[in-house]
Amino acid sequence: MPEFVEIFEVGPRDGLQNEARAIPVAEKIALVDCLSRAGFHRIEVASFVSPKWVPQMAGSAEVLAGITRAPHLRYTALTPNMRGFEDALAAGADEVAVFGSASEGFSRANINATISESLQRFAPVVAAARAAGLPVRGYISCVTDCPYDGMVAPSAVARVAAALRDMGCGEISLGDTLGQATPEQIDAMLTAVLEEVTPDRLAGHYHDTSGRALDNIEVSLGRGLRIFDAAVGGLGGCPYAPGAKGNVATEAVQARLQALGYDTGIDAAVLAEAAVMARAMRAQA
Ligand code: HMG
Ligand code: MG
Repeated sequence: MPEFVEIFEVGPRDGLQNEARAIPVAEKIALVDCLSRAGFHRIEVASFVSPKWVPQMAGSAEVLAGITRAPHLRYTALTPNMRGFEDALAAGADEVAVFGSASEGFSRANINATISESLQRFAPVVAAARAAGLPVRGYISCVTDCPYDGMVAPSAVARVAAALRDMGCGEISLGDTLGQATPEQIDAMLTAVLEEVTPDRLAGHYHDTSGRALDNIEVSLGRGLRIFDAAVGGLGGCPYAPGAKGNVATEAVQARLQALGYDTGIDAAVLAEAAVMARAMRAQA
């Protein structure tokens, strides 16, 4: 039996949050509904953030209300604070995520808080989510490089990972937000983080600006990670990381994992259909 590796689809959130065009809710729902037939276990579809900061995610509650839910599939949402968590819960998110940074510059630019302030803000969100029975993911951005502060020390990532673990995050997603990390940098970062968190609780979230995301996934596989975030059609970027291109494309990750002998449970034909939709959404932007 081939070993299972989960691809966590983040296109409808990480992808679409960065498109210049205001994408109608109906288009987002159509993309999620197509992805729901592809065999994912989790799809990130929403973000309950300030619409002044990220206007593209303003229709998140409508997206959650409008999709046709597939059984056993968890629809997840970003929740930066208690207000976001309460809105996500009311909208029916199955899992939520807090999102911090390993660098002070990005933390300030993205969520208007120092790392320490952000952790204080996340603690009640994680506690409330757990009390409501929802799994919580903790993202860490800028795990190797920051657009504001430059190189990020592996020990800084490990510190934030340990704090998120202690807070109760069941899973920690390690973001190469700029997409410039080399496999050597990812390996060094993982060496530090793995001293704090076991590999089954880590996910690799790699953007593909420099075309090295698949190599970074391979390095991470070698270190025991079995969850990778990807965006259909390579959608995305981050509004607070200038120059960052999209997440690694789900189709590319699926093909590479299959070639390496892993089982992803993804139906490549349905995924290709979703990629056509995603690229058409981007082309109009
Ligand atoms: P702030 O300005 O410090 O907070 O923003 P505030 O409490 O003063 O609120 C400002 C305004 O936002 C107020 O409205 C609040 O009501 C409203 P006003 O009184 O001015 O009319 N507000 C909200 N509205 C809706 N939902 C909410 C909410 N909270 C406050 N939950 C805040 C702090 C965190 C809210 C803001 O900085 C923010 O929304 N940031 C989000 C930035 C973002 O979404 N970035 C992209 C996602 S992260 C990412 O992509 C990286 C990742 O993919 C991993 C990787 O690649 O590295 C995850
Ligand atoms: Mg991202």
